Amino acid sequence: MQKVWWKESVVYQIYPRSFCDSNGDGIGDLKGITGKLDYVQKLGVNVIWLSPVYKSPNDDNGYDIADYQAIMDEFGTMEDFDELLMEAHQRGIRIVMDLVVNHTSDEHAWFVESRSSRDNDKRDYYIWREARDGKEPNNWGSCFSGSAWQWDEKTQMYYLHCFSQKQPDLNWDNPVVRDKVFEMMTWWCEKGIDGFRMDVISMISKPEGLPDAPMAEGALYGGCDLTCNGPHVHEYLQEMNRRVLSKYDIMTVGETAGVTIEEARKYANSEGTELNMVFQFEHVGLDGGDADKWAKKKMSLPALKENLTKWQKELAGVAWNSIFFCNHDQPRVVSRLGDNSPESAKCIGTMLHMMQGTPYVYQGEELGMTNCLFGPIENYRDIESINAYHELTEAGLREPQELLSCIAYKSRDNARTPMQWNGSANAGFTTGTPWIMVNPNYKEINAEKELADENSVFYYYQKLIRLRRQSEWSDVIVYGDYELLLPQDEAVFAYTRSLEGRKLLVLCNLSDADAEFELPAEAAGPVKAVLITNEGEAPVLKERMKLKKWQCVVYEI
Ligand code: NOJ
Repeated sequence: MQKVWWKESVVYQIYPRSFCDSNGDGIGDLKGITGKLDYVQKLGVNVIWLSPVYKSPNDDNGYDIADYQAIMDEFGTMEDFDELLMEAHQRGIRIVMDLVVNHTSDEHAWFVESRSSRDNDKRDYYIWREARDGKEPNNWGSCFSGSAWQWDEKTQMYYLHCFSQKQPDLNWDNPVVRDKVFEMMTWWCEKGIDGFRMDVISMISKPEGLPDAPMAEGALYGGCDLTCNGPHVHEYLQEMNRRVLSKYDIMTVGETAGVTIEEARKYANSEGTELNMVFQFEHVGLDGGDADKWAKKKMSLPALKENLTKWQKELAGVAWNSIFFCNHDQPRVVSRLGDNSPESAKCIGTMLHMMQGTPYVYQGEELGMTNCLFGPIENYRDIESINAYHELTEAGLREPQELLSCIAYKSRDNARTPMQWNGSANAGFTTGTPWIMVNPNYKEINAEKELADENSVFYYYQKLIRLRRQSEWSDVIVYGDYELLLPQDEAVFAYTRSLEGRKLLVLCNLSDADAEFELPAEAAGPVKAVLITNEGEAPVLKERMKLKKWQCVVYEI
């Protein structure tokens, strides 16, 4: 397997709005991030993925971009960005930008022109259609509720928006749009940034004729299966690769909703003709409902093991994985798979960080930050949660209280509460009024406290990251083969990683009860070293093993 830096990296995702506010307006900003680079460096990661910082009216917190080459007013200036980039580079940290080019904001100059008349020369930058029998051109639903089509009074046509009405989809079939996007990407690369995380990049190529999509039972609109992995997506990414990516030593990760193994092997192929790696979402869909994600069921551990194992094994040698459970769209993993305890946070971290692929740590995950009890829908800020609540309750499809409890469990806002820096007002995030509520548990869970406690989740994550990046086991952790053990065990996630005669054994009791299990003889030792464990003394490795609740350990055998 080819050795490259982005396979050996650990990425830290920053959601700027919620990270650190330097000027007291209640909104995180670039200077706030620069001021915390020492903290990020101390954690030991070498890449930051910055969620969008571009000029935006914030209908979807910056994922609706009005100018790709300007900084959002609330976040600061381009000089602030340049300073952040320079300070990060001085600390050996690279910066990966969020690239949101499936759609723009409706306030982007291109769209303002496009909607101005039917014969404007930018009309074809977006996807405009005539009404069908006086209604929407097809049955597609927006990912944020309602139809994916918006009627435009002025020019008497509909435009497509797979996300909010303020996020019109770009028409990638238009070569001029591709030229413009590639020019903009080149501008950022020339500035010296280190890569792109590509927002819903699997959705840029729409199917010919925009046919109706199949509808799930209980759904109001057609699903988005038809908009993912469309007919020209690989062709367009190869063109992007030839014209931009291949010219720079950068890393790329595609957010690929709806990706299958077969598709991932193309997007992230080892020949390097498209992207370096993709985010797949099958594992975070395992606790979803039939029609949508708004369910409260617990993930089955055998199903999770089967799924992650499939991705580990089937991309090995042909494409590259990214490994994650948390980001700005997911609830906190310690509340999802764990029981909110530091021990469960460490156990889940171990299970993920010992796998093959590039790990992503989302801000606050390294502290064991939990879901937040928001209460009524008025306390939420996320367009997805708010729209779903109104649509599903008003259509009589869900009971308000029941739906609210699912939103409490799954809402993206769980990830977006301010970073908990210390035990002072607003968790030290801002001196003003935070744009979204602070999780009331900040006095127990915060960075200052954890930095003063050698047994904290923070130092445990630091150790996990160091093991992968700078230890005698790095090669095995990064490049080793993966084998699952005990596939049916309901409590224990066990696997081995092997490379050139060396072998690691990873044991994680992902349950809140003690677990007893039997290991295959060849996995039961002898032990050469204990790499990490979360409960003081490492347990003695033997065929009949016992682990305490949330206990985990990694051995070299
Ligand atoms: C995926 C992003 O991660 C999410 O936050 C955003 O709302 C949608 N894409 C639309 O850009």
